[in-house]
Amino acid sequence: MDRRQFLSVMAGGAGLLAASRAAGAIPAAKPSAPRGTTLAGVRNEWTLSHPLVKQKLRMMVMSDAHLTLDDARGEPWKEFSARMSTPYRTMKHWRNGRQLVSPAGFDEVLAKAVQAKVDFLALTGDIVSFPSEAGVDYVVGKLKASGLNWMYVSGNHDWHYEGQPGTLKEQRDIWTKKRLSPLYQGANPLFSMRQVKGVRMVFIDDSTWEILPEQLGFLRAQLASGDPVALFMHIPLHVKGYPLDRAPVGHPDWGWNADRNWQIERRLRWPKEGHTQTTYAFRDAVFAASNVVGVFTGHIHEPMCAVENGVPQLVTELTAAAGCLDVKFKSL
Ligand SMILES: [Fe+2]
Repeated sequence: MDRRQFLSVMAGGAGLLAASRAAGAIPAAKPSAPRGTTLAGVRNEWTLSHPLVKQKLRMMVMSDAHLTLDDARGEPWKEFSARMSTPYRTMKHWRNGRQLVSPAGFDEVLAKAVQAKVDFLALTGDIVSFPSEAGVDYVVGKLKASGLNWMYVSGNHDWHYEGQPGTLKEQRDIWTKKRLSPLYQGANPLFSMRQVKGVRMVFIDDSTWEILPEQLGFLRAQLASGDPVALFMHIPLHVKGYPLDRAPVGHPDWGWNADRNWQIERRLRWPKEGHTQTTYAFRDAVFAASNVVGVFTGHIHEPMCAVENGVPQLVTELTAAAGCLDVKFKSL
């Protein structure tokens, strides 16, 4: 079993995972000078210990609630919302197999976060399945009423009316402003940060599978602060040894030949030239940084834990089925 297999096995079952930055070997149980994050947990519940974290913090992450709510305001857009208005409307509860009808998964995770009095709630995209005003109104109303400290970043479906013309970036620019803006609470949709108990909660929109130069600049400024950083995005970053369909952003094979869904989703096909150098540089900067406590994403709808160079990436299980990440930060 190589190191990657060992980490995957540990991520899938209970146990303690020491994510040493030492290359090559399975890390020692008690590293003398720990750098990077040490993980303990199983499936969706994790404790992340990092030397830069000074205060205990508990947060939850929800992703892929895929609300399909719509009303008369969405009638003119039915041609573009039709396909995504049915998937995920009815889901099996991930823990006990109960049937959930949307938005019950979202409601259940939010109620869990309120009951736990979490310090922070992160919403990492595909919260709505298309940019419906009814869906956004519902989510924002519930979040405001919760009294929680929350932030949101878009997924590839939140802003997508399938079949609308233009590049992914152009469509994102239009619909994040037109429909999703209440979810940002005045923050920039592309990149934002809020400090919670000394941790910089950094939100970057990678829902076009690409990173823009201004987003890379923002990330570098956050990393240069020296503060602990938690990074939230929709689509997972590429982690060495993981396949394209699990961890695509920054994967060397991403691009035209790998795009299987462009016709189904009625969008432009991924570019022939693959990722931009900016996207590769962003990915490399995240996994080279010693102050990134963790990366938190969604998109693939299944829990995953992958570690590169001492930086863990945790993927949230489908919130439409009441999945969420329940994460505690503490000092080493
Ligand atoms: Fe999704």
